[in-house]
Amino acid sequence: MQEHRALFVIFGGTGDLAKRKLYPSLFRLFRKGNIATHFAVIGTARREWSNDYFREIIKTAIEPLEPTKEEEEAFVQHFYYQSHNVTNTEEYTVIKTLADRLDEQYEIGGNRLFYLAMAPNFFGVITRHLKSEEIITNNGFNRLVIEKPFGSDYESARLLNEEIREVFEEDQIFRIDHYLGKEMIQNISAIRFANNMIESLWNNRYIDNVQVTLAESLGVEERGGYYDKSGALKDMIQNHALQIVSLLAMEPPRIFDDEEIRQEKIIALRSIRILSEAEVDQFFVRGQYSAGKLKDDTFAAYHDELNVAPDSRTETFVAGKLLIDNFRWAGVPFYIRSGKRLTEKGTRINIVFKPVPVNIFRENEATRKIKGKDVLTIYIQPTEGFSLTMNGKEIGPSFSLAPIKLDYRHSADALENSPEAYERLLLDCLNGDATNFTHWDEVAQSWRIVDVIRQAWDKDTAAIPSYAAGTMGPDEAFQLLEKDGHDWIWQP
Ligand code: BG6
Repeated sequence: MQEHRALFVIFGGTGDLAKRKLYPSLFRLFRKGNIATHFAVIGTARREWSNDYFREIIKTAIEPLEPTKEEEEAFVQHFYYQSHNVTNTEEYTVIKTLADRLDEQYEIGGNRLFYLAMAPNFFGVITRHLKSEEIITNNGFNRLVIEKPFGSDYESARLLNEEIREVFEEDQIFRIDHYLGKEMIQNISAIRFANNMIESLWNNRYIDNVQVTLAESLGVEERGGYYDKSGALKDMIQNHALQIVSLLAMEPPRIFDDEEIRQEKIIALRSIRILSEAEVDQFFVRGQYSAGKLKDDTFAAYHDELNVAPDSRTETFVAGKLLIDNFRWAGVPFYIRSGKRLTEKGTRINIVFKPVPVNIFRENEATRKIKGKDVLTIYIQPTEGFSLTMNGKEIGPSFSLAPIKLDYRHSADALENSPEAYERLLLDCLNGDATNFTHWDEVAQSWRIVDVIRQAWDKDTAAIPSYAAGTMGPDEAFQLLEKDGHDWIWQP
């Protein structure tokens, strides 16, 4: 096990993301020995906290991982807190002094990982100061990790990127899309590029359509303030859904490394057709959840959620059809959908194959009808695995066709030991491996695709379709496929 040396400076160190994801992930890395003695963490935020209080917070954050007393003590000794106003230049000297002291104390060798877990409007001011106040070192690596949202449209993202690029080179910037840290998202490349049986069919001659669903059963919880300004299109489609599509659609990279993969993903994203505003209605639908009931639970309507405007027009559901204009995919619709308060939590990809050219069993239509199309399903979460639904012969003396399913799921044990998305991504960062992060060109192209849709919707004054909480979205989402002669394969 290689022990990494690094000083983590976490801006937004008191925030929800840090507590829920970063500190537990750091602890997992600590437990596995990826970080051991030569690391330290500085948490910064506006609040006045003492080191002791910060360490208590860390203990609470890692509690679910059931550390022993010794592990817990050893871990939290590496944590330091510094209250900080990101716009105040003088306060950066305090951070610098602390950082240099910890670097020496823990013999870190100048490696620094700056993690911006806060609102993007501060990214520019922080990175500028990291440079001007010489918090960036000369003797080790300096990497910047950025959380989404990266801008709110192409133009704001471009400006943000320019600000950051004044200080950091592209290969020092790690833009997080936590879906890329998920086990089964990473598995997409293995399935495609390690199986001739799959890759040889992976094109418009054999694939009829592709369906990507990112469903959530939760509503907006305490994030109404953020979500009401964002909506599902920017919250899930611009990043996670388009990243998944690019992994499904890209050409095989020459070799499996970050540069080559990024290159292919960028080309795939560039091949996605950008709609005109007038076309948006035919290709994309949105919805907002109304009050609903599922089993014994009742749910409030979106506009009654905390910090949501009562007359909000924000979409909590999006379904759309993407067309990819290249030789491999011309004519194959990629349907995507994502929403809050749907029937169940689940991320799934369904690859629907074309039917055989002729049904040679057709003589007896009643029993020998081909019942369904072949479907390869990739289960991303909460269960992880694959299934292949095909047609076979029903057991018995007569000859009837029946669907059969080859089904594989990772075992609970394997899942238990598999790293969590953030843990994986933090380790990648320590290794300087950017494969599972989004390059600026990917972010830019994703915004270009999404901006037109947003603009068309912003101009549209018609009522937004609604769907009852607990269902799989508005009728319009089903009609979107029906008009092409398809159905959503996953209908929980
Ligand atoms: C985040 C979105 O990026 O992803 C959230 O901002 C969403 O709104 C979350 O709930 C879903 O992530 P996961 O890993 O739970 O599927």
